[in-house]
Amino acid sequence: MNILIMGPAGAGKGTMSDLIIKHYDIPHISTGDMLRENVKNNTELGQQAKAYMNTGKLVPDELINAMVEKRLLEDDCQKGYLLDGFPRTLVQAKAFEEMAERIGKPVECVLALEVGFDTLADRITGRRICSKCGAIYHLRHHPSKKEGICDECGSELTQRKDDTVEQLKVRMDEYEAKTAPIIEYFEPKGVVTRIDASKDADFTFAQVKEALGKVA
Ligand code: AP5
Repeated sequence: MNILIMGPAGAGKGTMSDLIIKHYDIPHISTGDMLRENVKNNTELGQQAKAYMNTGKLVPDELINAMVEKRLLEDDCQKGYLLDGFPRTLVQAKAFEEMAERIGKPVECVLALEVGFDTLADRITGRRICSKCGAIYHLRHHPSKKEGICDECGSELTQRKDDTVEQLKVRMDEYEAKTAPIIEYFEPKGVVTRIDASKDADFTFAQVKEALGKVA
C-alpha cells in the first residue's frame, strides 16, 4: 500500500502513522524525523536544513527530493510506504509522482487531515516527544504515566524547538500557501480522502481505516 498522510503541523500525522503501521506492514517515513536526525548527527544536510526548520520554514525542494528517493529505494519499501510530511510543495509533488511511477510505486491513497488553528496550537504547545524512540505524548490528551519519562523506553521527554505558537503561525502560512494546493492537485486523480482530525485520535483513526479499507 502506497500512502501519503498530509495535514498542518499538529494535525496528528505522526500519531495516525503510528497506528497505521501497526495494521499494515509498511515503513513510516517522516521527512521531518529524517531531517531532525540529520540535524542531530550534524550531517551536511542537517547543517543546511537546521535554520529553515527552527524558524518553521520549508527546507529547499532539491534537498528533500533526493533524500526521499534514496529512502524509497530501500528494501523495507517493497510492500509500500507511508510518507508523512512529503510532498510539501507542488515541485516536490510533481517530482515525487514522476519518481513513484518510475520505481513502480504510484500513490494509492492521500489522507488529508483537517484541523482548525486553535486546536493545532493546543496540540503543538502540549506535545512532548521521546528523545530516544520518538514516541509522541501530549501533556493533557495523551500524558506519559510518569511525568517527563517515556512509557515505551524510559528515556526523557523533550519539546521540539519549533513547537511554539509563533512558529506554528509560520508553519501554517507555509502549509496554506505551499502544501494545501497539493491536495487539490491530487484530488482529480481520485486518491484523496479528507479526514476530520479535530476530535480524539480514535475518531480520526476510524475514518483513516475506512479510507484505507477501500484501497487494500
Ligand atoms: P514535520 O516534522 O513534518 O512537522 P509538521 O508537519 O509541522 O507536523 P508535526 O510533526 O508538528 O505534527 P503532526 O501532524 O505529526 O502531529 P502529532 O501526531 O505529533 O516537519 C518539521 C519541519 O521539517 C518543517 O517545518 C520543515 O522545516 C521541515 N520539513 C519536513 N518535511 C519537509 C518537506 N517535505 N519539505 C520541506 N521541508 C520539510 O500530534 C501533535 C500533538 O497532538 C501530539 O502531542 C499528539 O499527542 C496530539 N494529538 C494528535 N492527535 C490528537 C487528537 N486526535 N486529539 C488530541 N490530541 C492529539
